[in-house]
Amino acid sequence: MQDLQTRRIGLLTGGGDCPGLNAVIWAAVRTATRAGIEVVGIEDGFEGLIAGGSARTLKIEDVRGILREGGTILGTTNRGNPFRYRTVVDGVEKEIDCSDEVVRGVRRMKLDALVVIGGDGTLAIGHELSKKGVPVVGVPKTIDNDLGATDTTFGFYSAVTTAMEALDKLKTTGESHDRVMILEVMGRHAGWIALHSGLAAGAHAILVPEIPYRLDAVLDRIRARYDEEGRNYTLIVVAEGAHPAGQETSYIAEQTAGTVARVGGAGLGLERALTAAFEADWNPTRGVPEVRTTVLGHLQRGGSPGAFDRIVSLRFGCKAVELCIARRWNRMVALRGTEIRSCELSEAVAEPHFVDPASQLVTQARGLGVCLGE
Ligand code: F6P
Repeated sequence: MQDLQTRRIGLLTGGGDCPGLNAVIWAAVRTATRAGIEVVGIEDGFEGLIAGGSARTLKIEDVRGILREGGTILGTTNRGNPFRYRTVVDGVEKEIDCSDEVVRGVRRMKLDALVVIGGDGTLAIGHELSKKGVPVVGVPKTIDNDLGATDTTFGFYSAVTTAMEALDKLKTTGESHDRVMILEVMGRHAGWIALHSGLAAGAHAILVPEIPYRLDAVLDRIRARYDEEGRNYTLIVVAEGAHPAGQETSYIAEQTAGTVARVGGAGLGLERALTAAFEADWNPTRGVPEVRTTVLGHLQRGGSPGAFDRIVSLRFGCKAVELCIARRWNRMVALRGTEIRSCELSEAVAEPHFVDPASQLVTQARGLGVCLGE
């Protein structure tokens, strides 16, 4: 008779890091250990399950104090998809499918469950592995907040706070120099960080990937700052994936085997376009406003999780262990209102979460006079 009791759980973190990952690990290890279940920390995402990868037992003393720590004690990678594993054959980079090695790794480690903590990419890999018989439980993570099956992903509000505090600082220097200050934030396809941090900091323009923008609309907003509001500085936040209508997202690196093309240049591109437009339309009263761009980059991914993210993360960790004990596989934990529930992993990865231009939040932004580039 097969033993149907969960005795040993594997934990891995995949994709971009974010504040809260260690809080999930902390809670999962404490909850599992106190239930008599052993936890194995698998290092560097799915790589830890491939031959040569590394893993280690995690006891309560191994996770002491990590609740408040950013990053992940297990390490992670954005480029570790076992179904499209990047390798070099005869000096040429190739993608190979080594997912069967991962399945063998799970069996070799005698794991009764595999908890995968990650964004849409990691969760999709987990879903594919579950089709190969791996008992998977997913935990949704990303600063982008672009997973529709949960009200919020952990990491998001910590990133929003980092971006909001940066905008607050840019306001004081922009106001001192009568400048247009642009902050580029992360968000390849979803503009949630830009929208929330921009509203929280009182930005005058918020540009997101979901609303291709008109440069004239941004210029009009800046002119109104001078002509109607008597203010000589403007605060603009732009998501890295935002782009002018009729143009593509700007990229700074090609896609190579096992990786995604890196987006970038949205802020600087807007700065150049605004400066050229001001020079072409010189106005003696306002001259040519100076424009400065700051790219916040990976600062949004680093640092200690805020209170909200710590609570959501540790509750996700508890729920993931609960699903493992109940042997409810191929499911993802999710925040629904104030409750932690779960849903089919297939549902989670099928439903991205983008900014809806017709939503109440965006409508309220318009009502506040925020320019969305429309
Ligand atoms: O998905 C999270 C994210 O931070 C995106 O917002 C960003 O574009 C990307 O990861 C950056 O990836 P990397 O750390 O590989 O540069």
